[in-house]
Amino acid sequence: AYRAEVGMERSDRSKVSDGMVVVGDPQLLENKKAAIRNAGPGKLQVIADFDATLTKYRINGCCGQTSHNLLQQSNPEYDIKRQELYEYYHPLEFSPIIPIEEKTKLMVEWWEKTHALLIEGGLTCDDIKKSVESATIEFREGVFELFEFLEEIGVPVLIFSAGLADIIEEVLRQKLRKSFKNIKIVSNRMIFSKDGHLVSFKGKTIHVLNKNEHALDMAAPLHDHLGGNDGPINDNASVKKRTNVLLLGDHMGDLGMSDGLNYENRIAVGFLNDNIEKSIGNYQEAFDVVYLNDAPMWGVVELVSQIC
Ligand code: TMP
Repeated sequence: AYRAEVGMERSDRSKVSDGMVVVGDPQLLENKKAAIRNAGPGKLQVIADFDATLTKYRINGCCGQTSHNLLQQSNPEYDIKRQELYEYYHPLEFSPIIPIEEKTKLMVEWWEKTHALLIEGGLTCDDIKKSVESATIEFREGVFELFEFLEEIGVPVLIFSAGLADIIEEVLRQKLRKSFKNIKIVSNRMIFSKDGHLVSFKGKTIHVLNKNEHALDMAAPLHDHLGGNDGPINDNASVKKRTNVLLLGDHMGDLGMSDGLNYENRIAVGFLNDNIEKSIGNYQEAFDVVYLNDAPMWGVVELVSQIC
């Protein structure tokens, strides 16, 4: 097995203490690890949610910001309007009594209204840069090392989010300060006019309830924006042939991110950030590994080094 030096000290590894990780079925996990290891890194891909999965849920006791709510337009009136939408729709997003078709309509409505306000408010590229500079957002410790390791062994990473692609890219740029050739973002992508104002969004809107549809077809390579080189690992067809998946998410709904793929083996890693007592049972059943208490990414780095 390939074991990379990924800058992970013993002391860091021990931070993933027993109390922070739960494995529902250790034997099943070992079997999946063996199957993925035997197939080799050429068969593996990583699919990760962004907000509260790659990023920390809490920063200094406060909730970390998401790609949506970190945005500050130069016209603050529009931020207030978006916040009002958030206060109306966010509880509906988590309502257990709204039927799925109705909820889907509501989510489409929310995303379309928010996108329209961003356009109407005249969001600029400069607003994005400044918003990210002053945002309360941080990657979990070990994310950089995870990406470096995966790049080194040629394993693609698909970051899949119902947030905003341009914001996620700016966060990657500012916080990681490295362009990774193996990373693709599937999220809502903005189109700007020549003078740098948002004029529309590309393609079909991705909201929380349709994240699983056409995932790979919607992917746009990161190099379009960050100046990297495209290669075989950024090619949709070859990504589809990678039928072993390591999935990272913080919501049960994130498990649907691999639906577009006819995978052979999947290890699902869940980050349970909130309502731990209420949700641990469901998470333990649905995810192979569950990290609690805003755990760092070191456990996943170690897992990858075991299966590659
Ligand atoms: P995801 O990061 O899990 O893909 O989901 C995106 C989150 O963004 C979802 O929980 C709802 C949230 N959101 C906002 O905070 N503000 C908005 O204006 C919209 C449309 C979504």
